[in-house]
Amino acid sequence: MFLVANWKMNMTRDRIGRYLAVLEGKGLSSILSGTGHEVVFAATHVYLEYLSEEVNRRGLPAKIFAQDVSSRIEGAFTGEVSVRNILDVGAVGSILGHSERRRYFRETDEDVATKTGLCLQAGVIPLVCFGESGEDREAGNTLKVLREQVAPVAEVAAKALKDGIDIPVYLAYEPVWAIGSGKNASCADIREVMSAVLEEFPWTAPPKILYGGSVNLDNVASLAALKNLSGLLVGSAWLDPEIFLNSLMALS
Ligand code: 13P
Repeated sequence: MFLVANWKMNMTRDRIGRYLAVLEGKGLSSILSGTGHEVVFAATHVYLEYLSEEVNRRGLPAKIFAQDVSSRIEGAFTGEVSVRNILDVGAVGSILGHSERRRYFRETDEDVATKTGLCLQAGVIPLVCFGESGEDREAGNTLKVLREQVAPVAEVAAKALKDGIDIPVYLAYEPVWAIGSGKNASCADIREVMSAVLEEFPWTAPPKILYGGSVNLDNVASLAALKNLSGLLVGSAWLDPEIFLNSLMALS
């Protein structure tokens, strides 16, 4: 499983240090050993370098992701952070198109597809979030909305593969109504969405699909047991290193 902690804007340098110290002290390496699980921490841009250095210094088996990248390559875009910038400071991938970015910062499906293309060209793993809002769901528009969000990403992924770029594309199904609400999607919901995504687009290489939205210690094992699910993207529960480690132990 690809197990991603999205720390959002909740961490400080000090708190990251304490988090990693717990992982080192409790033996993350031995907990993960032989399980095949991969662990990812997604931090805000300013902490990527510190996080990457600390993970290396402590010998922790974890990858570092950004939470977003600019849709521009370089140039006069004050305040933006490019794909090249995150690579420079130790990130190997980035979350893209999180619903919080779509909702609060007006990111469009096209922006997300552009960012996916830039990541793939630079050798950075894209983890693209998609998911319907509560209103979409109530109106019976779940699959329609998901198709609109995923189609431009599928196109970019197919083009990249044709250009010889062989980087895995990860998709995370994160229903907006499930994020931070304590109400996770059911296994049946997730199964339906995964089949739609895998069957309806001409993937040359099928994407790996993760689930995110109110994953916690009680539901982590049953969600992870879903056939064809490749991982989990977790917010609030994995801000606590003890819950993170207990979740790993519930999976192995
Ligand atoms: P929660 O796990 O807090 O519901 O957040 C999910 C999420 O948004 C991960 O990207």
